[in-house]
Amino acid sequence: MLQQRMDEVRAQVEAALDTAMSALPRGELTDAMRYVCLGGKKLRAFLVMESARLHGVSDQAALPVACAVEALHAYSLAHDDLPAMDNDDLRRGLPTCHVQWSEATAILAGDALQTLAFEMLTDPAIGSAETRVKLIAAFAHAVGPAGMVYGQMMDIAAEGAEIPLDVAGITRMQVAKTGALIAFAAVSGAMIAGAPSEALRVYAAKLGLAFQIHDDILDVTGDEDTTGKRVGKDARAGKATFVSVLGLDAARAREKELVEKAIAALQPYGDEAGNLKELARFVIDRES
Ligand code: IPE
Ligand code: IPE
Ligand code: MG
Ligand code: MG
Ligand code: MG
Repeated sequence: MLQQRMDEVRAQVEAALDTAMSALPRGELTDAMRYVCLGGKKLRAFLVMESARLHGVSDQAALPVACAVEALHAYSLAHDDLPAMDNDDLRRGLPTCHVQWSEATAILAGDALQTLAFEMLTDPAIGSAETRVKLIAAFAHAVGPAGMVYGQMMDIAAEGAEIPLDVAGITRMQVAKTGALIAFAAVSGAMIAGAPSEALRVYAAKLGLAFQIHDDILDVTGDEDTTGKRVGKDARAGKATFVSVLGLDAARAREKELVEKAIAALQPYGDEAGNLKELARFVIDRES
């Protein structure tokens, strides 16, 4: 059931992103943008579409938001992989953007995907102008200097630091780096509907943390063919992660605890939130 719905959302979002890209001038920039948007789990898009469905918002209204979130995420990955950041050469089973083209192209493709994401949020299909402005403000907050970019800065600054981050420090970093965009995706449907989003906010806070803990675990226990990324890179780079401070077993216990709390937070939605509950379990069972 979850798998089927995730496949459906992935296909919908990839097609819509492809259409958006087709409207742009042809060339290396758009080739690179298309390339980094392809593949991946499209988990954040799934959160947008399910959050919308829970609040009676149509797929048509939610789709531009799902595309914006995935375009932004794709930009963050293209930049995360750059030599000056994590210096990775494998992403989603393929050479990273700067390896496939060049560093300049990867930087510009990321820049372009970021601005395209904001443009997508102006689509009148989403709702009233007021709703769109609220979404744009929340999105900017989630991915900018108090959100994803801030978290990425903390991640880089903590590399090989003399005094390593403690659990509280790593939690703060993860909440910004990964949690903020996931939280935006999860509450976006409620925002479009003008409905309260507190339960989804709690769900997303737990889910986002469990998601990044599992990403860190996969870097230690996963293999390249399954994850589509190089493994063992966090330890090599001297990254601060939940695994580096807690160890594998405690990190696993922590992600399980968080998923149970995420599921419990969905209680007000009853059976309607079945997909989101299944997604929470998927996040810590996944191998890629
Ligand atoms: C990877 O995100 C980067 C992190 C924020 C940890 P995903 O695991 O969602 O990557 P894709 O989109 O499925 O490739
Ligand atoms: C990246 O985190 C988070 C982003 C905001 C892109 P990681 O550096 O752990 O992601 P992977 O492991 O390279 O996918
Ligand atoms: Mg990184
Ligand atoms: Mg990385
Ligand atoms: Mg990682």
